[in-house]
Amino acid sequence: MKKKIMGITAGRKNSNSEILLKEALLACQEAGAEVTMINLRDYNILDCTGCTVCTHGMSQGKNVGCTLDEKDDKKAIMEVMLDQDGVIFSTPTYDLMGCAMMAKFLQRGLSYETSFLEAINAIEHRDRVGGLIAVGGSTRSWMSMALESIQAGMFTTDINVVDMYLATRVPAPSQCLLHDDMIERARALGENVLKAACTEPQDRKWLGDPDMGWCPNCHSNALILGEAQWDGLHYPIECQVCGAGGTLEKTEENTWKFVIQEDGLDRDRTTVEGRAKHLVEIAHTQGGFYTKENLDAVNARIGKYKDLSFPSI
Ligand SMILES: Cc1cc2nc3c(=O)[nH]c(=O)nc-3n(C[C@H](O)[C@H](O)[C@H](O)COP(=O)(O)O)c2cc1C
Repeated sequence: MKKKIMGITAGRKNSNSEILLKEALLACQEAGAEVTMINLRDYNILDCTGCTVCTHGMSQGKNVGCTLDEKDDKKAIMEVMLDQDGVIFSTPTYDLMGCAMMAKFLQRGLSYETSFLEAINAIEHRDRVGGLIAVGGSTRSWMSMALESIQAGMFTTDINVVDMYLATRVPAPSQCLLHDDMIERARALGENVLKAACTEPQDRKWLGDPDMGWCPNCHSNALILGEAQWDGLHYPIECQVCGAGGTLEKTEENTWKFVIQEDGLDRDRTTVEGRAKHLVEIAHTQGGFYTKENLDAVNARIGKYKDLSFPSI
């Protein structure tokens, strides 16, 4: 059966993100895949309101969906996206990160969180693969969270990212067309996504640059100093994307590398099991909030802030 590969972008029309995505999809189509592509700019996507009706429903064993389902196009897109074997995302970099349109789309994924929905037997597990492209006018220095910010939106729907490409120094519309190497790299990313989609889930592996990023688990280039987590777990250094924990070690070449410790993938956010641990945290922290004592205390204190307003515009 033909593999289904979808492209989702949020870049300018006929410009860098769209062009590189189209080249990646073309490689998939030429190799026999069934291809779909959308630009989020053509759709109405509302911001998550933070109502948490979806997760409250899940905590009671029900898949209630999103309160915005009938109000915008997210659900219609998700119905197609979740039926794919692979998805390629491409985004322009705005203020070091993936653009707000892409972030808005991805952050509406909470009501689709597979680790939560699988835990209540609302959905069957399905493995998907993905590739990410981030385009920017500068070098990595000014694109420092571009790929990582969209990587963070892949977990909710079990998209296993097998390749990522940071396309640098193309600020002007369609400027990537002057760089054959960029077009070739985008094509290779498409080929890698299709190759992974054609591989059994247990045999899938990272197909991008083997040396990409600090994190040997998710290949992000973003580490943070670890702090004690809600239950006391404390890794010296964490990958800020997948949550792998470990430390920095000096190599023989006198450079640094991030080494994941023995229990460092305990909360690996790229896996359903790792994310399910976050469900335990939410049940403890948010669930633990809803006691009569806490609600009475909040109600007693909230008046000061409800009655307080400052000049607005
Ligand atoms: C509001 C705004 C913010 C931007 N911020 C960055 C940035 O932080 N880093 C960067 O490298 N490029 C930045 N850029 C440049 C775009 O990423 C660049 O023009 C890119 O080619 C746009 O992709 P597109 O042609 O697919 O729309 C910014 C552009 C805009 C409009």
